[in-house]
Amino acid sequence: MKVTVVGAGAVGATCADNIARAALAEDLVLLDIKEGLAEGKAQDMMQTAALLGFDTRITGSTNDYSKTAGSDVVVITSGLPRKPGMTREELIGTNAGIVKGVAENILKHSPDAILIIISNPMDTMTYLALTDTGLPKHRIIGMGGALDSARFKYQLSQHLHCSPDDLNAVVVGGHGDTTMIPLIRLATWNSAPVTKFLSTEQQQKIVADTMVGGATLTKLIGTSAWYAPGAAGAALVKSIVRDEKKLFTCCVSLNGEYGQKDICLGVPVTIGRHGWEKILDFGLNADEQALFNKSAEAVRSMNDVLKTL
Ligand code: LAC
Repeated sequence: MKVTVVGAGAVGATCADNIARAALAEDLVLLDIKEGLAEGKAQDMMQTAALLGFDTRITGSTNDYSKTAGSDVVVITSGLPRKPGMTREELIGTNAGIVKGVAENILKHSPDAILIIISNPMDTMTYLALTDTGLPKHRIIGMGGALDSARFKYQLSQHLHCSPDDLNAVVVGGHGDTTMIPLIRLATWNSAPVTKFLSTEQQQKIVADTMVGGATLTKLIGTSAWYAPGAAGAALVKSIVRDEKKLFTCCVSLNGEYGQKDICLGVPVTIGRHGWEKILDFGLNADEQALFNKSAEAVRSMNDVLKTL
């Protein structure tokens, strides 16, 4: 297997590091436009191989896409990260041009690749990648919900005093501070509904803190988070290259599912060797569906901005 990560910033490098450590690919390429950055980080990571015991070959490239040729999976993290106080949506102008150029260059050398989009605003960048490349929809996966669901489990674990890994919980909808929908009604702690163990106030706080999870970290760190975003990207790569068919919430093209069309939005999907495979209908109640529709409206108006760029 060959995997490329485009963007050697904090998210891209962390994603690559996770991919290498788990030996998910024989060949891993890290590419960036900044002279030397990807080569340097690739070499640094390669020097951990003898310590950590993996045999992935990691190559760095300054904008030379020929090195990425024949990739099975490509993770796109390129673009500006958020600064404190900024929404993900404010990045659209700069990042749309970058993501479009990256996707086109990648497909010239890896026409069969599955693309995982991490760049923000993620829902709109996923829609852009889908509409601009014309790739089959199953090969375009936006990472947002996988990350937001992990953050949701973290928040739940803090209140339940339990292992995040014992929780099943998903965030659907958009990957924005006001568009994501943590589905607490359906969340379970090893199959027991979490709502059984949490007061209404606790539930409201968990949902609210999950929604601003990324913004909270941006404020603390001074830039966008990277450990969980990078790990979420790598978890998707793992499910693809090992054909695990794991269930994640990912941003995918909807054609009537969850009542929406002509949009990419976060829904529960299985991820396997061919990309996203099937969308699961979790049966939203009326309130959740109303939130989902509102989220779709916000993402759609962001997608409309693409036409003006
Ligand atoms: C975050 C960015 C990666 O949520 O969107 O941290």
